Amino acid sequence: MLIQRKEKNTIITDGNEMTMQKNSVAYEKFSSIQTNIQFMERKAGSVQTIAVTSANKGEGKSFFITNYANTSALYKQKTLLIDVDFYNPKISKQYKTKLMPGLSNVLVDMIAFEEAVIPLENKYLSFLPIGTLPPNPLELLRSDEFKALLTKLKEEFDVILLDCPPINLFTDARVVAAESDGTILLINSQTTSEEDVRKSKSLLDQVDANILGAVLNNKRYNQKQMASYNYY
Ligand SMILES: Nc1ncnc2c1ncn2[C@@H]1O[C@H](COP(=O)(O)OP(=O)(O)O)[C@@H](O)[C@H]1O
Ligand SMILES: [Mg+2]
Repeated sequence: MLIQRKEKNTIITDGNEMTMQKNSVAYEKFSSIQTNIQFMERKAGSVQTIAVTSANKGEGKSFFITNYANTSALYKQKTLLIDVDFYNPKISKQYKTKLMPGLSNVLVDMIAFEEAVIPLENKYLSFLPIGTLPPNPLELLRSDEFKALLTKLKEEFDVILLDCPPINLFTDARVVAAESDGTILLINSQTTSEEDVRKSKSLLDQVDANILGAVLNNKRYNQKQMASYNYY
């Protein structure tokens, strides 16, 4: 299945604000983040699996990681974006893949990854939706199957990006961060307090996560939209 796109360098499809135009300021910013992270990777050794999290909901994690995945693909890195937020699977919703088989089905039902992965229009970019919502997501993320899946995917992709739930609210992000080569902590200048950042940092340190760095986002989330976050 191909997800429709508005134009070549546009990421998301249904006309919402998660869209980045080529030559836009956003494109410049993401290219610069891409370069910085590649530089950090070179220093840190091989960093293929990258978890993205932040303290709270609605801080821009899914927005950031989607744009980052797109930039990475534009740099011709074979990129896989995985939705790992069982509480608010934003990217699966955006791509209208919420009801499709995905991560949970690969882990629980043992369907093949190849059956669930969705190639996007840029041949360097693929997406693994969240899949059927399980009663206990944490158990799936702690399973040997999850570790084995990441190991297998590292052979197939250059970069694997994991869109996590907020780390200060759910244990999941810590589990994923612990299994990832690196973690990016997103900080929202308008909603993440210093205390929040300290807490996120200490939660990541407790599991020995390799913090690659922080990304600052300054978009305040619209309160009306926030009310639609049922899962949190
Ligand atoms: N820098 C930004 N520019 C434009 N829109 C943004 C930006 N950051 C976040 N958003 C928008 O804010 C909303 C919340 O962001 P989202 O990525 O879903 O948050 P999270 O994944 O942290 O819960 C989304 O509608 C997203 O598109
Ligand atoms: Mg999100």
